Amino acid sequence: MASVPSLAATVHQRVADALSAALPEAGAADPLLRRSDRADFQANGVLGLAKKLKANPRELAAQVVQGLPADGVLADVEVSGPGFLNIAITDAAIVSTLAARAADDRLGVPYADNPGTTVIDYSQPNVAKEMHVGHLRSTVIGDAVVQILEHRGETVVRRHHIGDWGTQFGMLIQYLIEHPHELDHESDAADGEGEAAMSRLNRLYKASRTLFDSDEEFKTRSRDRVVALQSGDTETLDLWHKIVDESKLYFRGVYDKLDVEIVDEDIVGESAYNDDLQAVVKDLEESGVAVRSEGALCVFFDDVKGPDGNPTPLIVQKSNGGFGYAATDLAAIRNRIGTLKADTLLYVVDARQALHFRMVFETARRAGWLPEGAAKQLAFGTVLGKDGKPFKTREGETVRLVDLLDEAIERATAVVREKSENLGLSEEETVERGSQVGIGAVKYADLSTSMARDYIFDLDRMVSLNGDTSVYLQYAYARIQSILRKAGDVAPAAHPELPLAPAERALGLHLDEFAEVLSSVAETYEPHKLAAYLYQLASHYTTFYDQCPVIKAETPAMVENRLFLCDLTARTLRQGMSLLGIRTPERL
Ligand code: ARG
Repeated sequence: MASVPSLAATVHQRVADALSAALPEAGAADPLLRRSDRADFQANGVLGLAKKLKANPRELAAQVVQGLPADGVLADVEVSGPGFLNIAITDAAIVSTLAARAADDRLGVPYADNPGTTVIDYSQPNVAKEMHVGHLRSTVIGDAVVQILEHRGETVVRRHHIGDWGTQFGMLIQYLIEHPHELDHESDAADGEGEAAMSRLNRLYKASRTLFDSDEEFKTRSRDRVVALQSGDTETLDLWHKIVDESKLYFRGVYDKLDVEIVDEDIVGESAYNDDLQAVVKDLEESGVAVRSEGALCVFFDDVKGPDGNPTPLIVQKSNGGFGYAATDLAAIRNRIGTLKADTLLYVVDARQALHFRMVFETARRAGWLPEGAAKQLAFGTVLGKDGKPFKTREGETVRLVDLLDEAIERATAVVREKSENLGLSEEETVERGSQVGIGAVKYADLSTSMARDYIFDLDRMVSLNGDTSVYLQYAYARIQSILRKAGDVAPAAHPELPLAPAERALGLHLDEFAEVLSSVAETYEPHKLAAYLYQLASHYTTFYDQCPVIKAETPAMVENRLFLCDLTARTLRQGMSLLGIRTPERL
């Protein structure tokens, strides 16, 4: 089914037509329509236009009103103030528009006009290291942006640029060669597999680090091992693979807990670009984009200077010939634009890496690898502890992501257990709900804050039943499902002939905005606006539920019409929350 024009679009069209009929010189002038507290919509564009064309604003506004069609959409249009239009629409128009949305699987949400290909770089943990709250943000935001773009018909290629290359691997592999049983699997419980892998890696990391710091000869052997790794020595590579696989086992455990789908083919880490690095260097040097400075290959920028006033270059190759983070990112850009044919590159990465990406993008642009404006960092802020400082354990260490998730699930399970006592959920169901509620709470808290801002990780607030939380949304959804079950054989049905109560109108008008909110969220990469929309939807629903009896409504037609509003609200909540990666249990 084709997309359903929103009421706002329909009204906009009518006012724009009347405006250009009243004042042909105005051409396709924008009536500047928006929702208003004083009427359903207000059009402010007449005023500015009249001024510009030296017409009398109130007269022009009155002429526009005259020219509006009487076709059952507009109930009442008034000129107010110096030349605003206050527009009320009919109840029938609201219900019929919603009925058209409800008849469509996509709830009337259109596909993008010209979808392209976006490569999105998100959830990029580091091999042999724990995942922390920074990786939480990248994973949760990245996953939501992927879902939102795909929903519009964009082709999305996911890239998890994991840290799987670099000098630390020399030390780890050398230690493994000298202690061959270090990563051997003991009898692991199946569900604790990821955690067990991580504890083996931690042990390996600590043991090799200790030796590296205390034994000069081991240090030398480790450095030689890096060379062996980079030159593709088979034994070295085999052990490297073993470490990477062990880490993937661990990542998988975290992703499962976090309820995000990440597949191995999309895990294309730093190592994947190893063979391209020489070519990157050669091109940059030959084109003069990069120059040798004290042996290192550097790119300079007029506006990037250190505290001493000297320029801070982007180092593509170190003076010892080694490649770092920048070289890999440049090679990845060539691959993503050149081979994957992306129109847009997104990087969901901590704001503290903004300078790195600015320099990398500018270098790639100068080299002719990246069209102007095609790459964008979706930079996110820091997760803070209750003290307002970057989240750390009491011992000052970074907080393990799994510990946070476990705690969220535990708290949420307690809430579900208490709140759902009379639902008669089995223990298994309670635990499943607990994890859907706990993980939803963590995701929602992250996604409902605008990306660039820091936020405080506060589980008490996140799992609260009231306020702007996913739990509140999930309960609104479950409550609707319970009403629909109670209605039994009475099916939801739209009745445009019925007058609507104020709470029904408010809910209906908000439901109608869904498609427009989604397109703007997709265009600006701002999932928090979708979260805000859903929260308002649940709030409108709560008011409706308090003021308008559903099953006990006065007439059978009213019952059906209210069930229809309930059902469309639930479907909209479910669709929106699923785009944010949040589950909507049917009973809670
Ligand atoms: N692995 C890095 C980290 O944990 C993030 C990688 C971001 N992506 C990139 N293409 N540089 O901080």
